[in-house]
Amino acid sequence: MKRPTRVAVFASGSGSNFQALTDAVAEGRIPAAQLVLLVTDKPQAAVVDRAERAGVPVFAFRPRDYASREAYEAEIVARLTELEVDLIVLAGYMRLVTSTLLTPFAGRIVNIHPSLLPSFPGVDGVRQAIEYGVKVTGVTVHFVDAGLDTGPVLLQRAVEVLDDDTEETLAARIHAVEHELYPEAIRLLSEGRVELDGRKVRLRK
Ligand code: GRF
Repeated sequence: MKRPTRVAVFASGSGSNFQALTDAVAEGRIPAAQLVLLVTDKPQAAVVDRAERAGVPVFAFRPRDYASREAYEAEIVARLTELEVDLIVLAGYMRLVTSTLLTPFAGRIVNIHPSLLPSFPGVDGVRQAIEYGVKVTGVTVHFVDAGLDTGPVLLQRAVEVLDDDTEETLAARIHAVEHELYPEAIRLLSEGRVELDGRKVRLRK
């Protein structure tokens, strides 16, 4: 039998998606994956407490301790290589990744974004949707490339925008969808059901 897919989650904030993933793994909903590391650029972030409670090892670094983005990414790559990480899962990691990480992990880094890409990329995807006045927004899980939220789309799910939605009420419904969609995406990836062909992603569910 194939060994479990070894996953590193990168996060900078509250970590509710990290929690959804650890819960899904603990409950046997992603049987072919193992969470082997949390990487964070914010040693004080709530996600670190979540990792400690879940028994997931943490690599926390402060970007200002390094000369450049390449320098801390090189250290991250060394840690990931040591732990034989197969898949990087960005879950609210508020930094761009460079070729230092992208090249060795090409096609093996995914991100979750709170809109239906290519609408509303970048920060504040939820606020952008409210301000634009769209009736439908949603959640996208995509592969990461060198652009800002531009990589091939793996899964998407729509969320309706209600007339009286505020950024907070819409964000709450989007988060609830994220917590279902991300574990599902990681299950598909860990079971080898995802085929990447240029910009097209084919899924065998
Ligand atoms: C999520 O909304 C995700 O789409 C975006 O960052 C947020 C992270 O939230 N990339 P959390 O830290 O997982 O609660």
